[in-house]
Amino acid sequence: MATQPISKKTACVIGGTGFVASLLVKLLLEKGYAVKTTVRDPDNQKKISHLTALQDLGELEILGADLTDEGSFDAPIAGCDLVFHVATPVNFASEDPENDMIKPAVQGVQNVLKACVKAKTVKRVVLTSSAAAVSINTLNGTGLVTDENDWSDVEFLSTAKPPTWGYPASKTLAEKTAWKFAKENNIDLIPVIPSLMAGSSLTPDVPSSIGLAMSLITGNDFLINHALKGMQLLSGSISITHVEDVCRAHIFLAEKESASGRYICCAVNTSVPELAKFLNERYPEYKVPTEFGDFPSKAKLILSSEKLIKEGFDFKYDIEQIYDQAVDYFKAKGLLQN
Ligand SMILES: NC(=O)c1ccc[n+]([C@@H]2O[C@H](COP(=O)([O-])OP(=O)(O)OC[C@H]3O[C@@H](n4cnc5c(N)ncnc54)[C@H](OP(=O)(O)O)[C@@H]3O)[C@@H](O)[C@H]2O)c1
Repeated sequence: MATQPISKKTACVIGGTGFVASLLVKLLLEKGYAVKTTVRDPDNQKKISHLTALQDLGELEILGADLTDEGSFDAPIAGCDLVFHVATPVNFASEDPENDMIKPAVQGVQNVLKACVKAKTVKRVVLTSSAAAVSINTLNGTGLVTDENDWSDVEFLSTAKPPTWGYPASKTLAEKTAWKFAKENNIDLIPVIPSLMAGSSLTPDVPSSIGLAMSLITGNDFLINHALKGMQLLSGSISITHVEDVCRAHIFLAEKESASGRYICCAVNTSVPELAKFLNERYPEYKVPTEFGDFPSKAKLILSSEKLIKEGFDFKYDIEQIYDQAVDYFKAKGLLQN
C-alpha cells in the first residue's frame, strides 16, 4: 500500500538573530519543522553566523525583513503554518523611547499580523510578550500575585517616566495592538509572557539579559545598583526563567490545540537580596555581596505560571540549573575564571 508523504509543517520566526529566537529556530529544526526566519540584514555574515550554522540541522531559510517596513514580512510568512513573532527593538539607553522602541514595536506587530492575514495559511501566531507588559503598577505590599489578567500601567509609565520606561511601555502597547488586530481579523493569537531569561546563548555576543542575571556574580556594580535593583523596584520582583524553557513553552503553546489567550512563563520569583544569598551559598568562590542595607528584602509580587502548568507544561530548569549553566557559559566565554 502506498503511503502518503507527510509534509513538514513550516514555522516562521521573526527576528532570528536574537538570543531567544535563535534558540527557538534550533528547537523547531530539531522537532522536524521547516523554518523560515527573518533578520534585518541577511548579508551580514557576522550577525547571522549562528543561524547559518543551524542549517545543518534541517530546512532553514534566512530572509530579510524589518519591523518598520510594511510588506517585508509577506514573502517570509507566505505558506507558513505557524508564526512566532519574537523580535522587538531593545534600547534601554534610548533618549527617544517613543521613536526607538514604542513606534517600531507597535508597527512591527501590525506588519507581521497583516502578512499573516494575507498568507491565509497561518493557523496560530505566538507572540513573545514580556513580564514587563504585566507587572508594572503602583500597588504596594509583598506577596501580590500577578497573572494573565494583569497589564502594566502605561499611563504611569509614560507620565512618571521611570528609568527604562520605554521598554515596558513598548511591550504593553505592542501586545495590546496585537490583541486588537487579532480580534478584528480572526487570528488565533497566543502571547507568551516570559520573565528575565538566563542560561546560555547561541548568539555571537553575550546577551544583555544573561549579563544582568549574572551581575551579582561578576560584581558589575552598575548593573547591580541600577539595572537589577531598578528591575525589582519597577517590576516588583527578580523573576528568572531558563531561555530553553521559554522557547519550549512557545512550541508547546503553538502545538497545543486547547491553548488560548496569554500565558506567563516564569520559573523563579525572588528579590535581589534573596538571589544574592542563594548565589553566595552556591558559588562561594565569587564572594557575592549579601548586604543591601534598607533595600527591600522581599519581592512585591510573584508572576504566576499556573495557567501554563495547568495546560500541561513542565519547566525543565530550576534556579540551581539556570545558574549552573549560566556560570559555565560565562567561563566558556572567558567572562569568569575557571
Ligand atoms: N531576554 C529576556 O530576558 C526577555 C525577557 C522577557 C521578554 N523578552 C522578549 O523576548 C523577545 C526576544 O528578546 P531577546 O532577548 O532575544 O532580544 P535580542 O537578542 O535583543 O533580539 C531582539 C531581536 O529583535 C530584532 N529587531 C530589533 N529591531 C528590529 C526591527 N526594526 N526590525 C526587525 N527586527 C528587529 C533584532 O534584530 P537585529 O539582530 O537586527 O538587531 C533581534 O533579532 C523580545 O520580544 C523581548 O521583549 C526577552
